[in-house]
Amino acid sequence: MLTALARIPRRLGALVPGALALLALGGCAVKHPTGNLVRGKQLFVAKCAACHTLSHAAATGTVGPNLDDAFRQDRADGVKSTSIEGLISYWIQYPNKQGVMPAMLYNGQRAQDVAAYVAHVAAEPGQDTGALATAVASVSQKPAVEKNGTVEIDADPTGQLKFLASSASATAGNVTLRMKNMSSTPHDIAITGGGLNQVGAVVSGGGVSTVTASLKPGTYTFYCSVDGHEAAGMKGTLTVK
Ligand code: HEC
Repeated sequence: MLTALARIPRRLGALVPGALALLALGGCAVKHPTGNLVRGKQLFVAKCAACHTLSHAAATGTVGPNLDDAFRQDRADGVKSTSIEGLISYWIQYPNKQGVMPAMLYNGQRAQDVAAYVAHVAAEPGQDTGALATAVASVSQKPAVEKNGTVEIDADPTGQLKFLASSASATAGNVTLRMKNMSSTPHDIAITGGGLNQVGAVVSGGGVSTVTASLKPGTYTFYCSVDGHEAAGMKGTLTVK
């Protein structure tokens, strides 16, 4: 298998000098303060995690390549993090034109921060620690419980592809799932199971999405129906008794 770095010159063809300049640029950004890595992780989770797996970021997207696997060989070959960073920042700007990865999801400093974070953790064993461990809000282990027919299951306010609860419970009857989304990443709330599939409005920036259904006892799945979000983990289980 080709390493991620080995693929670059082939794709670039005549553009190689530009690529080398970009790689060199990445190489200059050697000393990223932790703040930038923290921001990079938040930005990665917000816009890249839907499509890519990266274990340190708890990202499980499967549309694009697994970024731990993509850089494992480069790490084993001793390729420097700064070179990997240059490649990632290049990819953010110039993804495969025939591919599905949108270009310029981030630019400038934000692109650099994301690249620095991915280069810092891709194919590295272990988990994020310190400021990086708390960079993104964690999902509550407590289930969201229905009150007066409504279950409140809010979206992660920092734009991660997550609800703040991964499980919920309700009593049978008319149940409304209500999701507030403070982030700028669009989300909805939807419910499926028992032959039912209902989807609420897509909202962002403080908007509220609701979905109401008459539920029999059983197990249902609540999820965000925006492309890639459920696959990235934006879903949970609703138990109706
Ligand atoms: C809509 C899905 C999608 C999103 C969002 C996305 N990517 Fe990708 N990415 C892909 C796909 C698919 C590929 C494989 C190449 C292609 O077909 O474009 C890819 C390739 C890559 C590669 C090259 C990996 C290799 O094997 O060489 C890197 C690095 C990468 N993406 C990083 C990112 C980063 C960082 C972000 C966030 C800024 C991001 N991607 C957002 C789908 C996505």
